[in-house]
Amino acid sequence: MAKTKTQFVCQNCGYTSAKWLGKCPECGTWDSLVEETIATEKSRSFLQTEAKVQPTTISKVAKAPVKRLATGISEFDRVLGGGLVPGSLILLGGEPGIGKSTIALDVGMKIASRGARVLYVSGEESEAQTAMRAERLGTASDNLLIMTATDLAAILVQAEALKPQLLVIDSIQTMYNAELETAAGSVGQVRECTAKLLRFAKETGISVIIIGHVTKEGNIAGPRLLEHMVDVVLQFEGERYYSFRVLRALKNRFGSTNESGIFSMEENGLKEILNPSGLFLEEKDDIVSGSVITAAMEGNRPILAEIQALVARTPYGLPRRTAVGIDFNRVNMLIAVMEKRLKLDFGAEDAYVCAVGGMKLKEPASDLAIIAALYSSLRDKPISRGVMVWEK
Ligand code: TYD
Ligand code: MG
Repeated sequence: MAKTKTQFVCQNCGYTSAKWLGKCPECGTWDSLVEETIATEKSRSFLQTEAKVQPTTISKVAKAPVKRLATGISEFDRVLGGGLVPGSLILLGGEPGIGKSTIALDVGMKIASRGARVLYVSGEESEAQTAMRAERLGTASDNLLIMTATDLAAILVQAEALKPQLLVIDSIQTMYNAELETAAGSVGQVRECTAKLLRFAKETGISVIIIGHVTKEGNIAGPRLLEHMVDVVLQFEGERYYSFRVLRALKNRFGSTNESGIFSMEENGLKEILNPSGLFLEEKDDIVSGSVITAAMEGNRPILAEIQALVARTPYGLPRRTAVGIDFNRVNMLIAVMEKRLKLDFGAEDAYVCAVGGMKLKEPASDLAIIAALYSSLRDKPISRGVMVWEK
């Protein structure tokens, strides 16, 4: 097979070079050259065949509604908008160790146990490791096939022959396309592999879930280049040392992005939490100052959360402020509001505020609860557990 030619293209100005360069000589941007394949004669003729696709009317299309494939995990299905749409490309992102492989394998096992064929490809773990994980999650049906591979072309050959209803790629950063010279995980590789999977999903009608590690900055695969290529972007979030996990849709071409799924990571896999109300409340009999219960929206669902504040006289000149699970700047601003409007003096007080249980409170509606917690601790006046504080 003749080797496909590749070139390096500046992502800022489009300058092309046969070799990788650290700095674009055209526009001067650093580290902007990404390896791309050059369209060959063969791929051009392929484009011509694509042009033969016939246009149709909306009424004709509307008569044949899409049949979604329900996974059987209701929290997951809800986030997708009612199940997997055939031929859709889903990106599942999250920090390493958060549980992406676990939830993807669980989804695969559930679908397989309902009679559909699933191919789970791992580029990170051996077949024995995947099997061990599956054993923790339950009994696997023979409809689920696992494979350890990183060469995307070889994977697609297998998938094409097997014709599963779902293909899972764990993870996109370990996959490589032999046409490119750069290493797996590079921007060029990640984009090229995703583009291949996108075409594969659309041509075959097979749903594909791609797992993507999120970098420290919160981007999937560094730049956000994958997000506009795929149909659905799911983000799996949580604190490593707490069991609570949230699955959010950041983008969904087939449903709402307001939905979220709530799970708890247990010994034997992820458990759905259908009623998350009490999850973030600390169990206790005696009431202490500084603790208040609030209601926050997680997607479309209200969740009861607990805010704890500790206000204590500072032994140093400069008071310290710490916030966990709540935006630090917001806490500072609320303290300033309390000083100005309530005529309170926090000038010599340290203030520590946290949301209990690894919850992340982003809603402005919980501002009043933060103020109540701070006030309760400052004056050492407990707030009854029967009181809930939020702002309309
Ligand atoms: P994993 O799915 O491997 O994370 P990712 O693919 O996002 O990197 O999950 C890793 C963590 O989950 C690991 O610390 C062990 C834990 N875990 C459980 O608590 N219970 C389980 O049943 C499984 C399979 C994993
Ligand atoms: Mg993993």
